[in-house]
Amino acid sequence: MSFGSTLEDRGYFHLHSRRVADHADDASDNKVGVIGIVGMGGMGKTTFAQVVYNDKDVREHFNLTTWVCVSEDFDPFGVTKTILDGVTSSTSNIEDLNELQLQLKEKLNGNKFLLILDDVWNKNNNDWEILSDPFKSGAQGSRIIVTTHDDEVASVMRTFATHPVKKLPVQERWSLFARHAFHDANSNAHLELQEFGQKIVEKCQGLPLVIKTIGGPLQFKLDVCEWEKVLSRELWELSNNETKNILPALRLSYRYLPLDLKPCLAYCSILLKDHAFKKEQLILLWMAEGLLHAMENKTMEQIGDDYFYTLISRSLFQRSSEDESCIVMHDLINDLANFCIR
Ligand SMILES: Nc1ncnc2c1ncn2[C@@H]1O[C@H](COP(=O)(O)OP(=O)(O)OP(=O)(O)O)[C@@H](O)[C@H]1O
Ligand SMILES: [Mg+2]
Repeated sequence: MSFGSTLEDRGYFHLHSRRVADHADDASDNKVGVIGIVGMGGMGKTTFAQVVYNDKDVREHFNLTTWVCVSEDFDPFGVTKTILDGVTSSTSNIEDLNELQLQLKEKLNGNKFLLILDDVWNKNNNDWEILSDPFKSGAQGSRIIVTTHDDEVASVMRTFATHPVKKLPVQERWSLFARHAFHDANSNAHLELQEFGQKIVEKCQGLPLVIKTIGGPLQFKLDVCEWEKVLSRELWELSNNETKNILPALRLSYRYLPLDLKPCLAYCSILLKDHAFKKEQLILLWMAEGLLHAMENKTMEQIGDDYFYTLISRSLFQRSSEDESCIVMHDLINDLANFCIR
């Protein structure tokens, strides 16, 4: 379980994933059942689905497993093709939806499968009917786990169980923050900051993504004045129309980014939308765009390296769960970077 084992709050996940896993294990149900994981952006739905997907005990119950990142542009052809490619571990050249569906039906036939549809937005009943047709050939106890922001999506997909992802429990919030804001997670070395830190954590409203992205930059500013500034009201105001999709708290992480790194992050908002990149590729692209600033005693590659690891340490990049050598950008951070360059 590579992703789960790197997660800071395994206890929390283990406890909660059991509930979804129990449904996924439930072989007495003879339908291909859909389970919804529902919650707002940055709550941890994908992370949660990954823990369930990678759970050895859960996987034992299925002959075929695959994961599809669906996102906003729902396209039955593309999703069906990704599922087929996933379950056959190959790349098909089929260009017709009907033919794809026939092949998928054949592959699923009699097999107990586990399919994760991550980040579904589409509420069109007809699209879901089309997509789900081949799933009916799966064996008893097959499961589809859907992550979505929207309860309505879950009901269109006729989930038999819905698991709302809750805010991080209060006791977990501080430890997650401390791991990002203090070196070695040691908040005792900075007692003067603890009170401000607690207040900052309160304002993050239990959203792990916000706690991480606020905490990360603060490790470079272990100073009471700076932490007080972070608490200042305007930075936490509710979003207005123009910024409605950007969590106000996340804007802080951009504000605190060293000047040289801002264009690099902004550039990545175009590049990293739904793509994973290797460090070396990214550094070459930054170089080609003239985004790295020469420094004495350092090669361009070393400067790119520094930028890269700074963006990871601030949780603006995250390592891909499929390939640890690649990084991806969370969609909310992507929105943030796009917003900031406008
Ligand atoms: N319990 C947790 N402990 C520590 N970090 C967490 C936890 N849950 C989520 N995270 C981190 O928070 C970030 C957001 O999580 P995730 O991508 O799973 O959210 P999401 O609900 O799928 O968001 P979206 O709706 O935008 O897709 C990730 O960086 C993830 O590693
Ligand atoms: Mg997600």
